[in-house]
Amino acid sequence: MKKPEELRSYRWFGVNDLRSFGHRSRLRQIGYDRDDFAGKPVIGIINTWSDINPCHTHLRARADEVKRGVWQAGGFPLELPAMSLAEPYQKPSTMLYRNLLAMEVEELGRSYPIDGMVLLGGCDKTTPALIMGAISAGLPAIFVPAGPMLRGNLRGGFLGSGSDTWKYWDDLRAGLISERDWMEIENGIARSFGTCMTMGTAATMMSVAEAMGLTLPGASAIPAPDSNHSRMATAAGRRIVDMVWHDLTPDRVVTPAAIDNGIVVHQALGGSTNGIIHIIAMARRAGIDLRLERFDEISRKVPVIANIRPSGAYLMEDFFYAGGLRALMGVLAPHLDLSCLTVAGISLGEAIEGSQVWNDDVIRTLDRPVFPYGGTAILRGNLAPDGAVMKPSAADPRLLKHRGPALAFDSYDEMAAAVERDDLDVTPDHVLVLKNVGPLGGPGMPEWGMLPIPRKLVKAGVRDMLRISDARMSGTSYGACILHVAPEAYVGGPLAHVRTGDMIEVDVAARRLHLDVPEEELARRRASWTAPPERLPRGYGALYARHVSQANDGCDFDFLGAGPRLPEPDIH
Ligand code: FES
Repeated sequence: MKKPEELRSYRWFGVNDLRSFGHRSRLRQIGYDRDDFAGKPVIGIINTWSDINPCHTHLRARADEVKRGVWQAGGFPLELPAMSLAEPYQKPSTMLYRNLLAMEVEELGRSYPIDGMVLLGGCDKTTPALIMGAISAGLPAIFVPAGPMLRGNLRGGFLGSGSDTWKYWDDLRAGLISERDWMEIENGIARSFGTCMTMGTAATMMSVAEAMGLTLPGASAIPAPDSNHSRMATAAGRRIVDMVWHDLTPDRVVTPAAIDNGIVVHQALGGSTNGIIHIIAMARRAGIDLRLERFDEISRKVPVIANIRPSGAYLMEDFFYAGGLRALMGVLAPHLDLSCLTVAGISLGEAIEGSQVWNDDVIRTLDRPVFPYGGTAILRGNLAPDGAVMKPSAADPRLLKHRGPALAFDSYDEMAAAVERDDLDVTPDHVLVLKNVGPLGGPGMPEWGMLPIPRKLVKAGVRDMLRISDARMSGTSYGACILHVAPEAYVGGPLAHVRTGDMIEVDVAARRLHLDVPEEELARRRASWTAPPERLPRGYGALYARHVSQANDGCDFDFLGAGPRLPEPDIH
């Protein structure tokens, strides 16, 4: 247990010199008395609230609720706004800015008189960014997930974020629903604050964070508008003060076993393929050399047991009522390391003790899964020597072993125009290939990997085709989409050399992705390939372009990996 003079913030407020006089007098300026802060842990509440982020609308209120808990436990709370990565609006992709937010979190923790951090967020890239930054900052930190929004509603039925957008968009393109129906869906699909409520990247990453021990038990599935969510935020405020006194830093929580627990849950949820990139990045921040193969090893053992869209039928609200993540982890216990420490100060086993499944159609048993294997498969071959990712649980089974001719596009615009043409030379057996949409080519690896089915095939009732790209896809998306092909086309990876008409073979069971073109011909194509022009010549984009890694390495910057702790800043 620390003493007050051992707190990091003591160097700002506790000593008696000219600088600390300034620090204390400026707190008086805000209206605080010495009793408010003297000798207390200073808790930075890192808040990613913003007017433009509908998933975080409630985080202003939650920050106040966290403060209430911090005061209750004898800490001193300070809210620090951080960049808000609003998935629906930020272009070309929030992924371009994940590392920027992670850097901001790390530097807020490093440069201010903070003893511990409460991290508020949940919209897609926000969760990994907050956690990556907190791991690098090395201060005690607890994550308060924003929580999913309520179910969408349409004429008494349910609508799921993203998944139903894509489904009804195809219905509209095929003339099966009217513009008026489409407007009704627009009104009903997002009817409360909170994150997407399908098993998209947000729900995936909030759940993975809990499985890694970084939230209070049961926090990740609480719907954002539920009063349990407010109480969880206050409890996190109380808990972080204790964590500071006991110096419970992220390195004690984020261990190789905790990362494995995150992957087990990721697979059992049929989690977003984006999660793979983020878990690799988080692990490497903690000095754990996580590779794609680990996902494959675990996915062969752990079935999908969460019956949630897009792999299943239900939504996050149903999952919460069925027992939430604690109940899911209770079922998964044989695959988890229950001895891992959580930020609650108890083991994962203690955190899930007494959990119960209240609806076994939503949270299935291990012998009655939604899908017999984990939610993702890692493919390799001459088309993706450094790996590619697929979500077989959300694909048409007939496409899991397939050979077909490529229909290749060099850019998103070229593809988007072609798929609307009624004279496009395409069959359901074609393999749609989109290049130059990876980490550098996108730039930022936009979620374009669920290429639209060509309109003429949609009209004929085709709803899935094999699609290959170096992009990502939204966790709410579905279909036989092979993603994250590495190395990407923009840097001259094999995908760059695919031409329309080339035969492509996919065998998911064998984890194989093969371009059936003779090696001499591929060598000729490589020799004639020229690098595309630089996409991001200035500003943060230039930093990103110079330092970002490929998808199989987590898309982090090469200078942000684990390393020696930086010295504390001088206070002069
Ligand atoms: Fe924010 Fe989906 S748009 S979580």
